Amino acid sequence: MILILLGPPGAGKGTQAKLLASKLQIPHISTGDMFRDHKARGTELGKTVDAIMSSGGLVPDDVTNAMVKDRLSRPDVAGGFILDGYPRTTAQAGFLDQVLVSMGRKLDRAVSYEIAQELLVDRMSGRRSCPTCGAVYHVTANPPRTAGACDREGAALVQRDDDKAETVARRLREYDSKTEPLKRYYHERGSLSEVAGTGAPDEVLAAALRVLGRAS
Ligand code: AP5
Ligand code: MG
Repeated sequence: MILILLGPPGAGKGTQAKLLASKLQIPHISTGDMFRDHKARGTELGKTVDAIMSSGGLVPDDVTNAMVKDRLSRPDVAGGFILDGYPRTTAQAGFLDQVLVSMGRKLDRAVSYEIAQELLVDRMSGRRSCPTCGAVYHVTANPPRTAGACDREGAALVQRDDDKAETVARRLREYDSKTEPLKRYYHERGSLSEVAGTGAPDEVLAAALRVLGRAS
């Protein structure tokens, strides 16, 4: 199954992608995680995207598209994959269409997580993640067993540097102007399903599995 997860920053795409990847046994491909990994490793790409991400802007399409194309050339995508945070512009969506054609593959569904804007700011300001394994928590909605420490690794949890209030506001504006129009793009192609992003993570997962015809 080939899935795209859409939704504003903080909607729960990463949280849901991890749950879906485990349920469907297909890889979770997050362009945000890939860029953060490059930053952490200090690669040339990481240096290029650092300032853009910290300001809440979008990385240029050509840079993002090249990274995704390379990722989709790996053998682990043979059984399907979940794209989280990509595509984010109409140009990226058109590029992905071409890559899928060249792979002889077809998108199954674009799932859009719907959530009121007021809730997003709280989700992002309360988010903490594990620098070692990438697990994502929320200080009140999804806290670790021990405050400030990863359940799996025990590592001290960190806050993303783009989760500061002023950067969050820019990310939300970028979403509204450049990414939200993709809902129409996929709706017109008969591929869009909207799922409520509110409720507990396992309730949101169950709703997505229903629209994907995978409810158990
Ligand atoms: P990216 O990493 O993709 O960030 P984003 O889209 O802004 O989304 P987030 O990761 O902030 O939110 P999410 O929807 O994954 O929510 P999460 O599950 O963490 O991109 C970062 C940057 O990279 C971009 O700004 C850009 O610069 C660059 N970039 C990436 N892709 C790009 C592209 N294609 N083109 C150009 N540039 C690109 O949940 C949020 C919080 O809520 C967590 O604390 C979580 O625990 C909590 N939570 C989740 N679900 C629930 C629930 N059901 N109930 C209560 N709390 C919940
Ligand atoms: Mg995410």
